[in-house]
Amino acid sequence: MSEMTLAIIKPDAIEANNTGHIIQRILDDGFKIRAMKMLRMSATEAESFYAVHRERPFFASLVHFMTSGPVVVLALEKENAVAEWRKLMGPTNSKDAPKGTIRGDFGTDVERNACHGSDSRENATIELAFFFSKLEYC
Ligand code: RTP
Ligand code: MG
Repeated sequence: MSEMTLAIIKPDAIEANNTGHIIQRILDDGFKIRAMKMLRMSATEAESFYAVHRERPFFASLVHFMTSGPVVVLALEKENAVAEWRKLMGPTNSKDAPKGTIRGDFGTDVERNACHGSDSRENATIELAFFFSKLEYC
């Protein structure tokens, strides 16, 4: 069954000029891009987006990183999109991520890991609504 997930190309990947490479991998893997835009999150927006991590020791650093430059947010559609996108990204820590995964090839460490993906269908719906209005889907 076709499903949607939210992907974010993070500031480290944009800064390193890897945006195009990552989008090409998304397309090569069979995802349909239903919506896409570049933006820079405010601290308030990043804190709200990552609210589930509010109590974690890395929260302040994560918000600082995610607001350090622009991001590209994408609504991706595919069968099992949530799991498929997380598989293509690889594990959270880029140092553990195999070559051939986006985090393995373009990330640096556990924080600067090139991309974000929703972790469940329910969260995908919430995260897509955080960034996109109905009018922005193609
Ligand atoms: P994401 O939400 O970005 O797709 O990543 P994820 O599910 O694989 O990892 P999650 O546990 O949700 O963590 C969110 C983001 O926080 C940063 N992080 N830093 N310093 C640390 O120990 C640490 N752990 C996580 C990463 O940027 C991670 O993607
Ligand atoms: Mg997560």
